[in-house]
Amino acid sequence: MASRNPHFKSFMLLFLCTPMFVTSNGHRLITVDASGCGDFLSVQSAVDSIPENNVQNVTIKINAGHYVEKVVVLGTKPYVTFQGSGRESTVIEWHDRANDRGDNGQQLRTYKTASVTVFANHFSAKNISFKNTSPAPLPGMEGWQAAAFRISGDKAYFYSCGFYGAQDTLCDDAGRHYFKECYIEGSIDFIFGNGRSMYRDCELHSIARRFGSIAAQDRNSPNERTGFAFVGCKVTGTGPLYVGRAMGQYSRIVFLYTYFDDIVAHGGWDDWDHASNKNKTVFFGVYKCWGPGATRIHGVSWARELDYETAHPFLAKSFVNGRHWITPFDS
Ligand SMILES: *[C@@H]1O[C@H](CO)[C@@H](O)[C@H](O)[C@H]1NC(C)=O
Ligand SMILES: *[C@@H]1O[C@H](CO)[C@@H](O)[C@H](O)[C@H]1NC(C)=O
Ligand SMILES: *[C@@H]1O[C@H](CO)[C@@H](O)[C@H](O)[C@H]1NC(C)=O
Repeated sequence: MASRNPHFKSFMLLFLCTPMFVTSNGHRLITVDASGCGDFLSVQSAVDSIPENNVQNVTIKINAGHYVEKVVVLGTKPYVTFQGSGRESTVIEWHDRANDRGDNGQQLRTYKTASVTVFANHFSAKNISFKNTSPAPLPGMEGWQAAAFRISGDKAYFYSCGFYGAQDTLCDDAGRHYFKECYIEGSIDFIFGNGRSMYRDCELHSIARRFGSIAAQDRNSPNERTGFAFVGCKVTGTGPLYVGRAMGQYSRIVFLYTYFDDIVAHGGWDDWDHASNKNKTVFFGVYKCWGPGATRIHGVSWARELDYETAHPFLAKSFVNGRHWITPFDS
């Protein structure tokens, strides 16, 4: 019985699969392929194969396909890259919502809904999409937060990635992050958390019905260096849409050289609870934005047009100390 022979399958795959890359010194390459032509069938099993306290650069090449699984990269596994074959063709997706119950019977809550969660430092992802496929809620519906991706590690780099969800799509939780030419889709607070992040040349696409909001930033003290800087981005989709909300008392959000479709809500910004005078402590700014929606982002007195001096720190990758960890080629 040929199929009992453990060598038979790999022997056959030699004929059916295209050759794999050979690993070079100090850099490991693992291939994930849904049809069996790689080292692993699932992304999580590839991540699991990386030793604890990893010090090598490890590229996980994820061939075209829909990988329906929840993935976690633990903090003990730094220096991992997810390399997809294109953000249209390689997709990791799952469908948890905040009020779904976890293994312990407790509700997951927003932060644990992410289809992919990364706690590790020095993570990067290229040419791949992350989705949460649970249905979109209407404003006011409770427990429907459903993140596609959560980044809680420091020095993370994303190039040409897609993030798809509705409420709370991208949990930009903690650490320094750089998003280049990414596509981020959602409805309510679809980029949120307390990261210190630069979004350069990204498309922020709203699928809001009745009302929506792009960014909710959670900086909680004037000493924290966190905030979201959107540089050269493009805001598209449906509205009306708040561009930023004061999740934390010292929330910091700036849009620079960004295009806005005619979908910005009256006022443009939201102070979250109308109770804690956040409008006196937040830092919300705009600099040289344009497009039919751009006048409305000046809708409240506490979101100001910055001058060059004030805008400058948010324009360069030094905002995320990128000179030390992003190669010139990558920025
Ligand atoms: C990992 O890659 C980075 C960037 O290319 C490089 O600077 C670093 O030396 C590499 N690390 C190892 C252990 O090879
Ligand atoms: C990403 O994919 C495009 C084609 O979709 C390709 O031209 C490009 O080289 C890829 N880049 C990386 C870093 O994977
Ligand atoms: C700031 O918010 C408070 C409520 O927290 C409100 O009473 C006040 O009118 C707001 N000020 C401005 C300038 O919007």
